[in-house]
Amino acid sequence: MTKRALRGPPRAVLWRGGVRGRLSLLEQTLLPEKCLRVEIEDVETLWGAIRRLVVRGAPAIGVAAAYGAVLGAREALVRGGDVGAREVAASVLRAIERLATSRPTAVNLFWALDRMRRRLECLLAGPRLPSGEALARGLLAEAKAIHREDAELCRSIGTHGAGLLRDGWTILTHCNAGALATGGSGTALSPVYEACRAGKRICVIADETRPLLQGARLTAWELHRAGVPVTLICDGMAASVFASGRSDCVIVGADRIARNGDVANKIGTYGVAVLARAHGVPFYVAAPSTTFDAGLSNGAGIPIEMRSPLEVTEGFGRPTAPRGIEVYNPAFDVTPARLVTGIITERGVIRATMAAVGGLLRSLAT
Ligand code: MRU
Repeated sequence: MTKRALRGPPRAVLWRGGVRGRLSLLEQTLLPEKCLRVEIEDVETLWGAIRRLVVRGAPAIGVAAAYGAVLGAREALVRGGDVGAREVAASVLRAIERLATSRPTAVNLFWALDRMRRRLECLLAGPRLPSGEALARGLLAEAKAIHREDAELCRSIGTHGAGLLRDGWTILTHCNAGALATGGSGTALSPVYEACRAGKRICVIADETRPLLQGARLTAWELHRAGVPVTLICDGMAASVFASGRSDCVIVGADRIARNGDVANKIGTYGVAVLARAHGVPFYVAAPSTTFDAGLSNGAGIPIEMRSPLEVTEGFGRPTAPRGIEVYNPAFDVTPARLVTGIITERGVIRATMAAVGGLLRSLAT
């Protein structure tokens, strides 16, 4: 098999400069029409950007939120005067609290904010109180470490997942769990990129992913840009794709995985899992350990974000339903563990069971 070079992934999240620098996000609501970045210097603007899905996808939200804590420090520093560590710390804690209210489902957000809070406590607990500037520098280093580690997690998921994919296979995916959704090359799409790089001929079928079309706007865009063959379908076409044998395997990402292996992901994922099982097609979830919620025994406790009815009735600026119609718009659903063939993690492919997930979490703790 001949190895292939792929175009490098787009960078969803970037930090520019030092502690008085800024957060640069690829403006994902404008893709694929426009490829623009937004530069963010304050916590409130980042909060809005997360809510509006300018940055989205569980790991990317976590990375952006980690930098959000640094924006909290920045806000205190640029107020001027002699800014001490206590003032900076108070501003960081306010940032962490605010950002935790931006979106409820992706656990990576809370994981990253928690890690930033622990780092803050650690920096404050040293024998001498650091200067406000030094405290901010310590937090920026931590946010960069979270970012770098996320890229490494994506790489490892890619290596483990690529081993499952045979030459000539077509993979169906839902929503976007690619580079745009992470600090690296993606979760669900990373095995695809890795297998293609190794010379395997892999094609992807992307569900468009109603109502906000992350599959059409983002997955199709990033795969096409990288040179990976991709075919776009409407969500309702998946059953006929499976029935006609056009898909060999499903890989999706995750926003939160409970201890028993139940998986929350973009609305519509559960339906794809049911269809895959009905047609004997393996259904894999690709996710780093930062997406596992050790505090939840099963998926019933996963908070599901409800979003505006307007996303369904006039998502792209033109009414597509009668005005005032009743709408139900949950952004995520929960796929029961029994429908999941395996979870591709940075440590390898595990079964979606309490024992296997518990084992993974224990191995990470040691
Ligand atoms: O609402 P979104 O676009 O943030 O939803 C994203 C998803 O559901 C992804 O599949 C999930 O976050 C995994 S991203 C690696």
